[in-house]
Amino acid sequence: MDLIKKWTTDLRYLPYQQWSDSYLETLTTTVHQSKWRLNYHIQPITGLLNDPNGFSYFNGKWHLFYQAYPMGPVHGLKSWYHVTSDNLVDWQNEDLALVPDNSYDSHGVYSGSGIAIDDQLFLVYTGNVRDNQWQRSSYQMGAWLNQENQIKKIEQPLILQEPGYTDHFRDPQIFLYEESYYILLGAQDTDLNGKILTYRSDDLMNWQLLGELNFTDKEMGFMIECPNLIFTDDHAVLLFCPQGIDHEQLNYQNIYPNTYVIADAFDSENNQLTNTSDLKNLDEGFDVYATQAFNTPDGRALSVSWVGLPEISYPSDQDGWAHVLSMIKEISVENQQLVQKPVAEMKELRLENTPLAGSLSSKAVFLKKNVLSQYELNLVINEQTQGELTLFADETGHGFTLLFDTQNGTMTINREKVGIPFAEEYGQERSFTIDKGPLELQIFVDTSLIEIFVNGGKQVATARVFPTQTTTDLLLSAKQGTFSGNFWTLRSMK
Ligand code: FRU
Repeated sequence: MDLIKKWTTDLRYLPYQQWSDSYLETLTTTVHQSKWRLNYHIQPITGLLNDPNGFSYFNGKWHLFYQAYPMGPVHGLKSWYHVTSDNLVDWQNEDLALVPDNSYDSHGVYSGSGIAIDDQLFLVYTGNVRDNQWQRSSYQMGAWLNQENQIKKIEQPLILQEPGYTDHFRDPQIFLYEESYYILLGAQDTDLNGKILTYRSDDLMNWQLLGELNFTDKEMGFMIECPNLIFTDDHAVLLFCPQGIDHEQLNYQNIYPNTYVIADAFDSENNQLTNTSDLKNLDEGFDVYATQAFNTPDGRALSVSWVGLPEISYPSDQDGWAHVLSMIKEISVENQQLVQKPVAEMKELRLENTPLAGSLSSKAVFLKKNVLSQYELNLVINEQTQGELTLFADETGHGFTLLFDTQNGTMTINREKVGIPFAEEYGQERSFTIDKGPLELQIFVDTSLIEIFVNGGKQVATARVFPTQTTTDLLLSAKQGTFSGNFWTLRSMK
């Protein structure tokens, strides 16, 4: 059997049971042979992964779900796939959890979230339905997950589409705030503006619309997807994905940005965020979208992102799979600035350490030669200088480059010269502002994924790459200065 080359709508929405065993065997074998599979990140077993859903802590474990279309590397009939973890770095595959099986979710169990209630996990999601004319209806649905991982869907919708809004009405985030439950919902009004709606409930079943969340007086594009409100360091942080937002309002190059604002507080009485910051990019790289975050019982604000973007093909498609989730990050607010760090548990992956130190000149030094792409690199460049770090460098010295200028406070990453090109129409380079002065970098590489934390997480830049070599070099050059750091090999996920 061959993999599907032409994905018609009929094929994308074919019930899972109707796919033959031999097709699934071919698909599984092809995915296993892919050279771009990751070793310590969550990835689909086969087919496509997109948004993280239902990130929560329940029954003594971390729970996470993701949007899954297991039959191929395309957006088709979506379900929630369930993974669990004791430590936020080793994730066990459980099973498909929420699958489309009734008249309120027949064409996809779309994104949503979860909250632990007593001894069960309450899940909210969007049921996506198409009629014979392919007209969409969206329903906000609920389900209970018990301690045996059994799911019981609530039969009737919790929230119906509101007048004044189109069928782009989805991605409920549920949270508890001052003893009431809230849902934030991504929406498009009938004038085609992106909005966030707020609902309140005291019993999880009856939801009252409070109206549009007031957090900006600017236009937020034609649709807002995946809103998330979290609370940290005496601030409220709203993460969301405005589609089609004007470039005058936000400088971005990705097809759709994942953005945030920081507010002093959530004023639930008036359904508004108070004293909100400007709109900013959550990630300065190429591929982060649909980030989901929640306030954990141990007092942290944790996030996880889809590393992938809507409407773009990636080279792993040819191997029958697409996209991954980011590592888990901890979000905080320091001096009115958002900071994202690898979750502390990431240290559990460290194996062998090579200390690095030396002086810099325009002739590049090899930080490491012939490395497998599964490592953490920590670097400090002490002086203000201009230079270049190259990851995935081949024999000619070409690879993924990170140009830094700590005199002027800029950084540019470029993936043009590594492996198979893709998404070229959105540019192969991203530039952003960093602090002037010494530079601190923490970089995680996992086969086909690079996650870069600059100056303790004040900026984060994420990039997929599709290298053709299994081992490559790490090079560093600069006008002047000295560097020190560590290179850690990392173990695979257990
Ligand atoms: C964002 C998104 C969500 C939707 C889901 C469907 O990537 O479009 O708005 O719920 O993906 O898979």
